Amino acid sequence: MLRAVVCVSGGGTNLQAIIDALEAGQITNVELAAVISNNKNAKALERARNHGIMDIALSPKDFEDRSAFNEAFVAKMDELAPDLIVLAGFLVTIPPAMTEKYGNRIINIHPSLIPSFCGVGYYGLKVHEKALERGVKVTGATVHFVNDGMDEGPIIAQKAVMVEDGDTAEVLQRRVMEQAEWILLPKAIDDFANGRIKVVDGKVIYTDK
Ligand code: GAR
Repeated sequence: MLRAVVCVSGGGTNLQAIIDALEAGQITNVELAAVISNNKNAKALERARNHGIMDIALSPKDFEDRSAFNEAFVAKMDELAPDLIVLAGFLVTIPPAMTEKYGNRIINIHPSLIPSFCGVGYYGLKVHEKALERGVKVTGATVHFVNDGMDEGPIIAQKAVMVEDGDTAEVLQRRVMEQAEWILLPKAIDDFANGRIKVVDGKVIYTDK
């Protein structure tokens, strides 16, 4: 059984999709060891508690500077000893010491088709605002491994979602979650946990397991 730690910042609908998939047996071979949030008021922490999962609040605001936070964050992760770290709407930059230690064992969900609308400043609702501003007709979501670059790690899976006339950022965000994120992320976790994906030459390969 793989030990997974999920990191969240806000509402936690992606966390909920993971919990639901685990409870429905759509993700196998995974145990949720803990949920960590940089925001102690995150609804996501409440979702974790409701399902008997350990919830941990760890905010950069409670530390003297970013490097002190990073150190505590890595130490907490080491204590939890995860096989897999899932960033499910986690809006804190992952310390290089963590990507180094947990290389190709950290996955992130991003609400666009990478390499569009990603990188510094593209997170949450802002991604959808930018997509609408540009007038794209198709957007979507991407699950990828995390490396030291911002949204630059090997892509695991992507799913396209149509933009519709009259969309607001909120409406588009919801459609991308429903049609892409809540499907892609649980599936990627299940694929990882059951040894169906591996990284070769910086790209994700699906094995036939
Ligand atoms: C999701 O749309 C996720 O893709 C996005 O934040 C939202 C969190 O929602 N993540 C990023 O923008 C990361 N760059 P949730 O808390 O309801 O799952």
